Amino acid sequence: MSFKVAVVGATGNVGREMLNILEERGFPVSEVVALASRRSMGTEVSFGDRTLKVRPLDQYDFSDTDICIMSAGGNVSKEWSPKIGKQGCVVIDNSSAFRYDQDVPLIVPEVNPDAISLFTRKNIIANPNCSTAQLVVALKPLHDAATIKRVVVATYQSVSGAGKEGMDELFTQTRAVFVADQVDVKKFTKRIAFNVIPHIDVFLDDGSTKEEWKMVAETKKMLDPKIKLTATCVRVPVFIGHSEAVNIEFEKPITADEARDILRDAPGCQVLDKREDGGYITPLESAGEDATFISRIREDSTIDNGLSMWIVSDNLRKGAALNAVQIAELLVERGLIQPKKKAA
Ligand SMILES: NC(=O)c1ccc[n+]([C@@H]2O[C@H](COP(=O)([O-])OP(=O)(O)OC[C@H]3O[C@@H](n4cnc5c(N)ncnc54)[C@H](OP(=O)(O)O)[C@@H]3O)[C@@H](O)[C@H]2O)c1
Repeated sequence: MSFKVAVVGATGNVGREMLNILEERGFPVSEVVALASRRSMGTEVSFGDRTLKVRPLDQYDFSDTDICIMSAGGNVSKEWSPKIGKQGCVVIDNSSAFRYDQDVPLIVPEVNPDAISLFTRKNIIANPNCSTAQLVVALKPLHDAATIKRVVVATYQSVSGAGKEGMDELFTQTRAVFVADQVDVKKFTKRIAFNVIPHIDVFLDDGSTKEEWKMVAETKKMLDPKIKLTATCVRVPVFIGHSEAVNIEFEKPITADEARDILRDAPGCQVLDKREDGGYITPLESAGEDATFISRIREDSTIDNGLSMWIVSDNLRKGAALNAVQIAELLVERGLIQPKKKAA
């Protein structure tokens, strides 16, 4: 059994990683179609050892396509995902356009796989925000063991989370600083080279940002609506890999040793936690890896049943493309999707 898969946003950071991961994991494809805007018509992208010519989204007919992995931003998704879903093609959407829709499941396969059955309502499945995806992978097994009451998180988010323009801006600004050239600020609100910016996405009325709100709403939707969470989301001059300093308050007692053992056995998690120089993960080492890495696990003596830890993952993989491909695999494993065209 194999599926015709379209990747929308195939020229972007996430779309390219999507093609890599479909190929690496041997997802059963009969055909892969690379789509983007008209600007990219004819551009070539790689899929394994093959080269795909990029086609424009607005000239493509989805009626014989089984799965569309959508990675072209919220506005494109709002316009296209419902139309594609109505053509009987299951959309796995990376944007925030449908994440909070009650009729659209928001899925991290290690966390809430059973919620996927809801997808038939709109033929759309949402992929979470990159910072939330890696956080819930680590929180889920700890919540099962000791029930999380409250989480306080500060993120250190790489520029690739802001798309290819974000990566270009860090590169050009860094170069400009070195050659004493003028430093232009376009994509971010302040200079990102040799700086950190405590602002991602738009401001909300209560002074928080939409990125921070997303972490709250998505954790509640996927893990448990009773969990209280507060976040400060910060952009840092790192190309790939989001890091998070996380403080967790539990209902039941849990020691750092117990948490380490639980996380060692948990799906998608990798514990790298030695109390010595270099005995922890940094975002540089997480780039290109699938795991959510957990380091610096320790008890917080300032609260009852408290733990602190450091969680890092490749935002383009678990935070986006890998999770989307895992959702497609879940559809296949559970027999929730059949190819429209039978193999000859
Ligand atoms: N980066 C992350 O860590 C991350 C994590 C989770 C979710 N996401 C989400 O994934 C999506 C893509 O992010 P990205 O980082 O890959 O951005 P990106 O590098 O800027 O790429 C954007 C992609 O969207 C395409 N596109 C833009 N307008 C289009 C249109 N009108 N029709 C068809 N295609 C269009 C672009 O095609 P052209 O090249 O033709 O312009 C490009 O392929 C966003 O929704 C983002 O929020 C990103």
